[in-house]
Amino acid sequence: MRITNIGSCCIDHVYSVPHFVMPGETLTSTSYAIHPGGKGLNQSLALAKAGAEVHHAGMIGQDGIWLKERLEKFGVNTQCLEVVNAPTGHASIQINPEGENAIVITGGANRQIEARDIQGWLAHIEPDNYVLIQNEISNLDAVFEASAAAKQRLIFNTAPMGSNVMDLPLEQVELFILNEIEAHAITGENDPKHILAAMIELYPAASTILTLGAAGAIFKNRQEELHQSAIEAEVIDTTGAGDTFTGFFLAHYASKRPIAECLSMAAKAASICVARPGAATSIPDLSEVMKL
Ligand code: RIB
Repeated sequence: MRITNIGSCCIDHVYSVPHFVMPGETLTSTSYAIHPGGKGLNQSLALAKAGAEVHHAGMIGQDGIWLKERLEKFGVNTQCLEVVNAPTGHASIQINPEGENAIVITGGANRQIEARDIQGWLAHIEPDNYVLIQNEISNLDAVFEASAAAKQRLIFNTAPMGSNVMDLPLEQVELFILNEIEAHAITGENDPKHILAAMIELYPAASTILTLGAAGAIFKNRQEELHQSAIEAEVIDTTGAGDTFTGFFLAHYASKRPIAECLSMAAKAASICVARPGAATSIPDLSEVMKL
């Protein structure tokens, strides 16, 4: 089963800091690195490393050709990743000693994507194949329209949450992958139990994975509810852990593996990711996850 990820590519500028910078403060980082990133790119790499057939569609500038090469190196099809006359999207990421992050992103080429580009990318994909999106590109509404017209199956990781999300026809989504902040914005609820009940009420045909950080994740739809604990790890950098979880879950879900297995593989992969620096660079291979 083919998965097309219409997603962002970013150049991540990563600063290790003693604490997140305060208003008015100038802070010296203890280290600095440039890594490949963007929720889209991270998720495509995680999908590919987990064994899925993945096509990445999106836009980068000339300065991001190395991101395309990175995707190709791991087997991602990049025929629909276009090089345009705009700077590649980038992220400024602070990492504190606890491994938590604070991220500012600039869309760049990720926000040059027009409805007609999306229509072109999705036009040649057969019905029933998966289309994965996050909220880091422009004109997401065109993905909803084109994938509905072509009867493709939409998976939506709602990160990073924005007010645009509520204007989308979310009843089309087959599977939501969201955290508590994103889920609160959609449902108005805070408690995981209430969030998941509200998601069923709002979108009865959909499944939802609610990720809860150190408390693990819950999968729920009208038929079943499964809980997955987080797997303990020494936390170095949590950036990309959610993307790793999404990619490993979806790769196994698309292969029709039991949901409990999909969750377990995703949690294991995320636990390896948090113990390494960087986002895309910290995504494990399938063999490493199988060994855990
Ligand atoms: O999810 C992590 C990603 O968010 C980073 O790689 C950064 O590029 C931002 O998009």
